Amino acid sequence: MTITTDAITSLDAAHVLQTYRRAPLVFVRGEGVWLHDAEGRAYLDLLSGIGVASLGHAHPRLAAAIAEQAGTLVHTSNLYHHPLQAPLAARLAELSGLERAFICNSGTEANEACLKFARRYWHAQGAPRKGFVALEHAFHGRTFGSLSVTWDEHYRAPFEPLVPGVTWVSPDDPAALGAAVGADTAAVILEPIQGEGGVRPIPAAFAEAVREACRTTGALLIADEVQCGLGRTGRPFHSRALGLEPDLMAVGKALGGGVPVGAALVSARVAKAVAFGDHGTTYGGNLLACRAALVFLEELVDGGLLERVRAAGDHLGRGLDDLRHRFPFIVEVRGAGLMRGVVLDRDAAPVVEAGLARGVLVNRTAGSVVRLLPPLTITPQEMDLGLERLAGALADAFEQETAHGIGRDTCTRN
Ligand SMILES: Cc1ncc(COP(=O)(O)O)c(C=O)c1O
Repeated sequence: MTITTDAITSLDAAHVLQTYRRAPLVFVRGEGVWLHDAEGRAYLDLLSGIGVASLGHAHPRLAAAIAEQAGTLVHTSNLYHHPLQAPLAARLAELSGLERAFICNSGTEANEACLKFARRYWHAQGAPRKGFVALEHAFHGRTFGSLSVTWDEHYRAPFEPLVPGVTWVSPDDPAALGAAVGADTAAVILEPIQGEGGVRPIPAAFAEAVREACRTTGALLIADEVQCGLGRTGRPFHSRALGLEPDLMAVGKALGGGVPVGAALVSARVAKAVAFGDHGTTYGGNLLACRAALVFLEELVDGGLLERVRAAGDHLGRGLDDLRHRFPFIVEVRGAGLMRGVVLDRDAAPVVEAGLARGVLVNRTAGSVVRLLPPLTITPQEMDLGLERLAGALADAFEQETAHGIGRDTCTRN
């Protein structure tokens, strides 16, 4: 079949379950921060597949490692050992300070595992606790457990009843957290920077209240680092920036550089409560996924990527502050490192569409926020070009609204 945009979008419309309102673009090739579509156009990717293509597209070392692994051994199941899963778990333990890892395939599975292990911990203590405290604007995934602690009513309502026992607290209300966490709270779950909810960093006072509530009640803390962790903000894990010491952490997205892999990282204390047969996965932690994750972690830690993200994040922050001064409809720039949200006083969808016309990829989240999650490998020159194109898109979207004939409804969600 010839790959044309029309052919693929028609086939998609006929046969793919329509859970995504996709932009009418068919990407066929990538290189670094660049994506190329079927019509031969190039786009500077400031979204990296929603924080996944952490090393950029077609990273030579990652590509070679995946190819070599595919030609050696891809999958054996978790009934046996293989040479890559234990080294990956050890590497994650070293980075996080959490002793053990359960390797899975996605962010939602990582959270699902954390929620189960939290309940399992209390069950093993002989004093079961059922409750979870979750935050307004939280997003933890689409499976039933993760969805139960996800805030957006649109995602939840059609699938109720969900897991019971969830109490919601506003991250702007530390006192409410203190009141919500009690003797039946198995765990508090939070994203140190809320991603889908609009790139909202957890305020320091709230983090302090979380620490205090967990200390006084014994409730466990689950940090969902799926979007903000693993170098995205220039730190291995953003919860550390808030002074939090989670008992469990969920990671995903960046970990495989595009190969699906996630992990639930578990403290020694919680790990002791988990027994053979308590949880499992067929694919999770297979050789291909572990190989990719090991390459990513080597690049991040040994290859100096963490330091480069810190510099790149400062550069991006300055560039976005500049845009805030140029465009009065930008009310705030939020986030840290290479995870940023440009908050508008209006719907951000036209910026995403204008960006496509300008050859730059960003997305809209929480209605009015333009989200940027560029590859961690982005260079200062690429960043400047991206910011220039974003400035063009902001101008096109609201100052010359008729300049481009692109459809309006192309906002993407994961
Ligand atoms: C913070 C957070 N947790 C969990 C998830 C779910 O991850 P996945 O889509 O890999 O299941 C996401 C996805 O956007 C996320 O941002």
